[in-house]
Amino acid sequence: MKKNNIEAQILVIFGSNGDLAKRKLLPAVFQLYIDGLLPEKFIVLGAGSQEKDEAAYRIDVDEALKTFAKNSHTKNRSKLADFLQKVYYKKVNNQTEEDFGLLKNYIDAISQKLDIKQNIVYYFSIPPFLYEVVAAHLVKFGLNSEDNGWKRIIIEKPFGYSYDTAIDLDKKLHNGFNEDQIYRIDHYLGKETVQNIMVTRFSNGFFEPIWNRKYIDRVEITASEKIGVGGRGGYYDTSGALRDMIQNHLLQVMAVVSMEPPAVFDSDSIRNETVKVLQALRPIRPAEVAKYVVRGQYISGEVDGQIKNGYRQETGVAPNSKTETFVALKLFIDNWRWGDVPFYIRTGKQLPERVTEVVIHLKPAPHQLFKQLCLTEPNNMIILRIHPDAGVAIDFGMKIPGAGFKVQNVNMAFHYSDLAEKKIAEAYERLILDCMTGDSTLYARADAVKASWKFVDTILSAWKKDPEIPLYFYECNTWGPKESNNLYDDKFMKWRYPFSKFKTE
Ligand code: BG6
Repeated sequence: MKKNNIEAQILVIFGSNGDLAKRKLLPAVFQLYIDGLLPEKFIVLGAGSQEKDEAAYRIDVDEALKTFAKNSHTKNRSKLADFLQKVYYKKVNNQTEEDFGLLKNYIDAISQKLDIKQNIVYYFSIPPFLYEVVAAHLVKFGLNSEDNGWKRIIIEKPFGYSYDTAIDLDKKLHNGFNEDQIYRIDHYLGKETVQNIMVTRFSNGFFEPIWNRKYIDRVEITASEKIGVGGRGGYYDTSGALRDMIQNHLLQVMAVVSMEPPAVFDSDSIRNETVKVLQALRPIRPAEVAKYVVRGQYISGEVDGQIKNGYRQETGVAPNSKTETFVALKLFIDNWRWGDVPFYIRTGKQLPERVTEVVIHLKPAPHQLFKQLCLTEPNNMIILRIHPDAGVAIDFGMKIPGAGFKVQNVNMAFHYSDLAEKKIAEAYERLILDCMTGDSTLYARADAVKASWKFVDTILSAWKKDPEIPLYFYECNTWGPKESNNLYDDKFMKWRYPFSKFKTE
């Protein structure tokens, strides 16, 4: 990662004592510091509801880095000490208006003392119901004013709870901030391997000519997780897999896979193309939801010799919850390139593998000359593996050496790690740095967020209104409800079962 001309600035983290700050944000900022990517004049200002002084907060940050950035913490002792000197703290209760007046005084004083211009990134690492509250409080005390330096806000997901609430939130944020100051983070877009999809497609001459309805039979996107909801039951029970993973991460990945090539590689051009895909999604009519979308919920099952709780037994989850922990759906993009090519998207918790991948299934050769001699089903696939074993693999048929013409599917795999001189940067490192330099390419734009909510909303409201739409149960450590295979019209077709080792069946 390389960024030039990064200006002096302050990173204010609201929710600085929370889980996200400790697990992801502080380790990412520390790594940027180690890599020499932060400006000389820079501080992190933790803004949290707990009463503590700078010294106590520095101890907390040290502790968080020790736990969540263990290697960097051990290997960079002197940089760690310097970094901690750049960490400050101010108690702010997000719901108390006056606290923002005090925050303003604090920022004025510290920026004067350290001679740092008030270029400020405000990171909203707080519960979603506080986004509009904090934004309004910032505006109230002129903390959004760009008279003395630029101001940007980073908003975590979920951005809204539905189409209407997303529009409403957007309006409220625009009361004090322009679109180019609002950075809606989707950490999937910060993943190196998601960005690599664009490079794979647009820097090579041989993928793009076949990247269309003429040669592609279907596209499959899977994000499976081995873990359950863990300690996040309270949040998850109000969200569910459709809101948690599909509305944002997986529809964004789908947009990158299916977008038209932009003429130039800049933020507007790329985001203009991805939004067109989201706006071209064929709406699923309420009466068709059960046909195109399968939802499931995990029940108790054995994982590595241990019996795991079912979802309804998880802390914070209602005992009769109907929240889905698994969703599989089929969608279509109504445009010239993709007309009638089905996209299958699936995500779930407590599945057997932790894998995120996109599989492009190509149509079979028009004439199967060796059909009788194939040892495995002839199957041409391009697999874009996002996690783990990031890379690209191509599956195709090869002659088995020796007499005759026996054909077998083989796999040519490129592992992305072979290209990286060092550890691949975490999504949050990339995204925070991008915001600091004013690059919003990998952040979701308002129109894209609205378009994906519009698509998802019909499904959510059909689930809410129609008790006949089933919620299927699946045991932990299985690939979700078997009914997800019913999304395929062809009864011999089923989901690919990916394995974390980079190979195909
Ligand atoms: C988060 C979801 O946005 O993404 C989590 O809220 C999910 O439920 C996580 O576990 C998955 O992200 P990743 O990067 O681990 O694939």
